[in-house]
Amino acid sequence: MKKQFFLMAVLIGLFSFVLVGCSNEEKEEVLEMATSADFAPFESRNEEGDIVGFDIDLAQHIADELGYELKITDMKFDGLVGALQNDRVDMVLAGMSATEDRAENVDFSTAYNHSGEMFLTLEGSEIASLEDIEGKTVGVQLGTIQQEGAKKLQEDYDFEIKAVDNGSVLIQELLSNRIDVAYMDKAVATGYMEEQDLAGFDDPTTSSPGMAVAFPKGSELVDEVNQVLADAEESGYLQELKDEWLSEEE
Ligand code: ARG
Repeated sequence: MKKQFFLMAVLIGLFSFVLVGCSNEEKEEVLEMATSADFAPFESRNEEGDIVGFDIDLAQHIADELGYELKITDMKFDGLVGALQNDRVDMVLAGMSATEDRAENVDFSTAYNHSGEMFLTLEGSEIASLEDIEGKTVGVQLGTIQQEGAKKLQEDYDFEIKAVDNGSVLIQELLSNRIDVAYMDKAVATGYMEEQDLAGFDDPTTSSPGMAVAFPKGSELVDEVNQVLADAEESGYLQELKDEWLSEEE
């Protein structure tokens, strides 16, 4: 009797082991992506609190094409490269420009979008060109190429830089007069101009590198994602996404 019971237990154990094994196999592997959801129309939170935008749709497309389940983690922009370096995530889509400096620490896909830089001001501001930023306070998002760019501009113009770690806070700083100008990505700035009735002018000095997907160094995903991007370019899907999310600025 005891022996039979033992056998039964072993069988049940074995059976459930097999079951679990099966269900695991059916479940898709997870692709962990990080972003900084303070950068509409590329990534931001909608009213329901969901992260939406151009990058999110593109990431979902990448995951679908490669057969992964997409998991998104929201973090501060200046923590994204570190998250890749520590292998905490598989990829980053955050409107991140593929700069040479960053490429020392992460790998980039081919570029999927190009933008420029803009100076945003309040409507009616006396600041209407680069010369006018002398003596003013220019806000930038921490860790962005705009922060670097502003430092460069300081060689020629005398102004103060205030770096904040959140893109939405940057606009709040402008609206509440704690900065005179916000220096930011053009596609993002254009959206704010329309939404908040702000003014602004293009930065004539920059030619920033395109936005690309970032990976931990040596990631096998680079080639696979490049293929997905090339296909998306060819099929017109990438253009569809641009029309959907970025059309207003072009
Ligand atoms: N393109 C700029 C950069 O790479 C700004 C990106 C900011 N992205 C964001 N999700 N806040 O530095």
